[in-house]
Amino acid sequence: MSFQVRPRVAVFASGKGSNFEAMMNSPEREFDVVMLVCDRPKAHVIGLAAGFGVETVVLDPDQFASKEEYEREILKKLKRANVQWIVLAGYMRIVGKVLLDAYPNRILNIHPSLLPAFPGKDAVKQALDYGVKVSGVTIHYVDEGIDTGPIIAQEPVTVFPKDTVETLQKRIQQVEHVLYTKVINEVTQQSS
Ligand code: GAR
Repeated sequence: MSFQVRPRVAVFASGKGSNFEAMMNSPEREFDVVMLVCDRPKAHVIGLAAGFGVETVVLDPDQFASKEEYEREILKKLKRANVQWIVLAGYMRIVGKVLLDAYPNRILNIHPSLLPAFPGKDAVKQALDYGVKVSGVTIHYVDEGIDTGPIIAQEPVTVFPKDTVETLQKRIQQVEHVLYTKVINEVTQQSS
């Protein structure tokens, strides 16, 4: 008899959590989300995780003496839950050495632009301000930089002349909500 063990994933998020929610609701999902890690005690995503019954670790980095200590505390929780993969979904923080060393090539990020264009915060506004006609979504492995690291998948989104940050962001997120689960499935199945 053979059976497939599903990859164990932790989602890191700081805010609204629409990507987390889409992942949880996706009938395509072939991995288990066993933990939510959140760095903002009032983030909306925390309530979502409670609704899905996902174990949630809320740690405020300001309460730690250093980034290393903050990440070491996270790492303890990840190890205890046998987490194999980390996926960032609106985690607005640079991942440090402690987690990068513990999860080499096992941390993914989603970003609302076609990287390397418009990294960092407010990527949708940056793209609109620049006047690009096409933007999109990038999923990549995380390294020590800001939205750098090898690209795994990209999907373009057309920018319309009348777009505002809100309208373009909405269309970009519609793409994110489908693409992220699909890519996490592929990556985690290949090398679990
Ligand atoms: C997403 O659009 C994600 O691409 C972006 O934050 C949003 C989080 O939304 N990430 C970055 O900008 C990373 N540099 P959500 O909380 O509704 O999933």
